[in-house]
This record gives sequence, structure tokens and C-alpha cells, in this order.
Amino acid sequence: MSATTIDIEEFTYNLKGYVDRMIKIRSLSSPEVLGISNAEAYSAVLLENFKNIGVMAEKNRELINDIINPILSSGEPLDPKVIKAIEKLNEELLDASEVEMIDLPLATLLTDRLLQDADMKEDIDYRIKMLDKEIENSYLMIMMTKKVISDPRIVDHYRKKGIEALRQLLVFLDKERFLELSEESRETIVANARYGVALYECWDLEDGEWTTEQFRLLENALAIADDPFYLEALPEYDWKYHLFRVYDFLTRLDYTFSEPEIVQKAVQYSDICSQLWKSDPEYYKQLNEFDEIEGRRLRILFLAGSITEHEYREKLYAMYQGRGDYEYNALGYDMNIEYPMEYILSMDENDISEKDMRRADEIYRSALAYIFHMPKLGLLSATLDPYSKLLVTFEEFPGNIGFEEMGIRSFAALHPPTYIHSKMVAGITGCLTRHLIRMRPELFDDVLSYLGYKDLHKDMNEIIEYAYHAALCHDFGKLMIIDTIFVYGRKLLDMEFDLVKQHPDIGYHLLIKHQSTQRYAEVARGHHLWYDGSKGYPMRFNGGKSPVKIITDIVTIADCMDAATDSVGRSYNRGKTFKDFEQEVILDAGTRYAPWGPELLRDEKTKRDLDYLLDEGRMNLYRETYKLLASL
Ligand SMILES: [Fe+2]
Ligand SMILES: [Fe+2]
Repeated sequence: MSATTIDIEEFTYNLKGYVDRMIKIRSLSSPEVLGISNAEAYSAVLLENFKNIGVMAEKNRELINDIINPILSSGEPLDPKVIKAIEKLNEELLDASEVEMIDLPLATLLTDRLLQDADMKEDIDYRIKMLDKEIENSYLMIMMTKKVISDPRIVDHYRKKGIEALRQLLVFLDKERFLELSEESRETIVANARYGVALYECWDLEDGEWTTEQFRLLENALAIADDPFYLEALPEYDWKYHLFRVYDFLTRLDYTFSEPEIVQKAVQYSDICSQLWKSDPEYYKQLNEFDEIEGRRLRILFLAGSITEHEYREKLYAMYQGRGDYEYNALGYDMNIEYPMEYILSMDENDISEKDMRRADEIYRSALAYIFHMPKLGLLSATLDPYSKLLVTFEEFPGNIGFEEMGIRSFAALHPPTYIHSKMVAGITGCLTRHLIRMRPELFDDVLSYLGYKDLHKDMNEIIEYAYHAALCHDFGKLMIIDTIFVYGRKLLDMEFDLVKQHPDIGYHLLIKHQSTQRYAEVARGHHLWYDGSKGYPMRFNGGKSPVKIITDIVTIADCMDAATDSVGRSYNRGKTFKDFEQEVILDAGTRYAPWGPELLRDEKTKRDLDYLLDEGRMNLYRETYKLLASL
């Protein structure tokens, strides 16, 4: 269909259908436990819901193929009516008021398309509007992809795009050019002069350079608010709001590696921010709670040497203790996750007291309890940001909650289908390992010595135990792409598939850092590689050389077996039978699956155990998950 022959009414109607279905799919994919009487009913509801999701997803696929893709790929100028309809669609796709943002990746593609269209046209106000959208979209994509710690190039891609758009926009601060713009465009330019610093947001600041750049931009935004030229050119603009936001941003920067003069200036700015707030609490409390600013001011004071580390940490801890456990706003994230995490991160590695360790355990456990209430409230992405950082910076202490428990419980809270999947794969892996040891003990020589054991028969249970836990952690990398796997209502876009393909590597990076989980890291990394290494991902990992290859091969089979035989969580393929899966393993033995796969699955004893696991075992897991969610 050519963009010029679109029937606009039908077009608008179709786009609205997409949004409606995506909203419906969200609620169907995580049904409220409330009102469902027991686990059997819960799993029946899930099953029924995913059938419906399948039907709607098919419609979405058609819509994207027939209507969206032609627009994305046509290089022709777009009709003004089409532009309007896409703009409206994008607004709805990014709306997070009812549920999570409905479809950020699709909005990103459409925004790029509109910007490309604007670049072709003479209308400067249109172009400014689209540059502004490009910045907003890039920022949201940065928030989504900065968690992909295995490949920083992904987040850098969106950051570059955003910063380039910002550069093109800020050119219009030039006074002569500024006056040529409409009032709306002028507001956009000035707002971006402060908002643009958000594009530099990242976790791994290695030096102070980025902070310096952000600092420079924000000081410039202060200067704008002080310049009679801009004040006159924009008399209706909310300068009070602007100014406070600039000071607020200034308190948010990470000054860890900054020059002392910058840190000293930051102290002054954070003082001004607090004073501003106190000067009109009624107004400012709509923007920030006082304690949000105060927590960040403490950090700056600490970095400037104005308060001692001890004072800083005790104050943080006091704020944490005074928190509202179930407050779900920016203050809630700060008090329940951000500030207590900061408490743990600021511990002196060489001198950690008993008290600190106790507190760390309390902090991690309370953060877990906190996020258990999140997805229902549709605040997922806002929480995922600090919570993912807490998982990435997690520290294990003897006697405290370990990373394995932290990870698996996080799945239960954030994404129950992955929790059930992880437990199923662990159970199947344990079972397959036990039987394979019985049938082919010689296959386990490498893993035996890797784990430091000598006698397979004496240490059999240890090996099975190892396999079980490795399988439990195999998808931990998905913790950093929860917002991607949350999209059920259509086929994954290429950019999303690229993210999903990162999860074995992300899992590796997460697991290798902790004493209790480092030995599972290679299994996580290799579980999507084919047995013969010819396909799958990540291709640059030579899984064939791994001493735990045999366990990885078992997990690969267990992973596919659970995925193939379960209907919940999949909107495309219905559950297959065990027989179908067995056929697949026979067909691909020696390439995708290990050559011993058919023999193992044909074995009567193995079969009997698997029958139980896939049937009653799975039902028990639904029961357990239902109880867990119903107890909240
Ligand atoms: Fe996986
Ligand atoms: Fe998996």
C-alpha cells in the first residue's frame, strides 16, 4: 500500500485496534490472582488467556506487516493526515499511565520514520517537534538497554542518536534563529536545554568527563533562565518549573570522579535546590518530595568532604528505616532501593562490620519484598531501573541471602512465567543428569574434575545438585531484559531479538561475579548454542571447550523440552506433546542436540520420571506460584 493512497479513517481505526489489543494482552498475560480460587483455576485461566493472546497477536502481526512496515520502508514524503495519526499512535504507545508503556520499540521505529520525513521537508517547526520526540524516545531506549551489561554498544547506539538530535536542536538557541521559531518550538528548545542531559544517563561512569558535559549543559540552562532575551522571547513559559528542574538535575549527577571545583559548585547548587523547595513547599512537592533532594544532597556533601562517610551512611540508613514500604512513587524507589543500595555500595571493602553485613541482608530482602508488588501496578520500567542496578551491583556476604536466591525470587516477583520456567528446567535437568550418569558415566569426567571431585558414584548427588542449580540460573540474563520479554502481543522486532540474544552473555556476567554462582556462569552462557557449535548464540563463545559442556548440553535439552511442552507464556506455538519433542531431538541429534539425546529420552526409567515432572510436577509449580502471589 502506498502512503499516499491510505484511507485515513480505516488507517486510524486499525491503529487504535493495535493499541486496544496490546492493553488487553497485558492484562491477560498477568491475571490478578485475586478472585481466582485455587491453583488449578489459576493455570486454567493462564492457559485460556494465552490462547486469546495468540489470536490477538496474529492480528497484530498482520497489521504490522500490512500497514506499518510499508510506511516504515517507503522513502516517500508522508501525508499530513498520516503524520497526525502516527503521532497520536506514538503517544499512546508510550503512555504508561494505565499499564506499562505499551510498545516503546515500535514507537522508536515510527519516530525515526517521522524524523526522516521531517528532514525532507521545509517545515522547521515540524522538524523541531520530531527532534524532540527523537530525544525522548532515545532516552527511553537508553533506560531499556543500559541494563544489557554484556554489550555496551547497544545502549551507545541509542545514546548517539539522542545526542545527535540534541545537538541539532540546541543550534536553535542562537538568538537570531530562536526568534524565527514558533512559540511552541521555542519552548521545546529551552526544555531540551535541560532535559537533554538525561541522555548521558549510564551506570558505568569511569571518569568525570560525562558529568562535566552534563554540568556544562545544565549551567547553560541556568544561564538561559537568567537571560532577559529568552525571558522576553518566552513570556508564558514556566520559568519557575524550569529553574527548579535544572537544580534538581544538578543534584542527580554522579560527581564521584569530578574535579573538586565542580563538586564544590554542586554543593552550592544542591543548597539552592533545598532552599527553593522550602520556599514554596506546596508548589514543589508536586515535583519532588523533599527527602528525594535531601538524599542526593547528602551524597554531594559526602563527596565534597563536608560530612564523614560514617555520618553519610548513618543518615542514609535512617532515611531507609523511616521509609514507607509500599510507596510507589519516585520517593518510594529512592527509599526502598536507591539509598539503601548506596549504603551497601559505600561500604569499605576491606573493613566490613558484622552490623553492615546484617544490614545488607535486610536491605536486599526488603528490596525483594518491595518489588513483589510492582508489576501489578504497572510501574515496571520505573522500578526496573534502580532494581536492576541493585542486582548488577549485588554483593554476597557469608550467611546472607545469595545471588541465586535473589535472582530466582526476582523472577517470581517480576515475571512469574520465567520463574516457573527456571524451576521446570532445573527439575528436568536434575532428572536427565541422574539418568545419563547411570547410562553413560564416562561423559561426566570433565565436570567431575572441574568441580574437584574424584569418584562419580560417591559424588553423584553433588553433580546432580550442581546441574540442578546451574539450570535454575540458566536464564538469569533475562533479569536485565524483563521489559523486552514482557512484550507478548506481537512477534519480536529485530532490535528486540538482538536484546534477547544477549541474555546468555548477560547471565554469564551476572553469575561470574559471585562466589556461590560463578561455577554456573558457563552453563548460562552456552545454553542457546547448538551441540556442534554451528548455530545458536552467542557465536563467539566456544562452548565446545567448556569443562561443563555436558551439563550445558543437558540444560539445552531441558530448556527446549519445557518450552516445547508448555502452552503458557507462548502466544505462537501451542504446547507440543512429549512425542513431538522426542522426534525433534532424534532429528537433530549430533547437530542441535547432543548425540546421546534420543537414547536418553527413549529410556523407560527416564521417561517415567519425565512424565511426572511435565505433568504433575508442572501443576505443583503452578500451585506454588499461585500461593506465592496470592499471599501478597
Ligand atoms: Fe535462555
Ligand atoms: Fe530458558
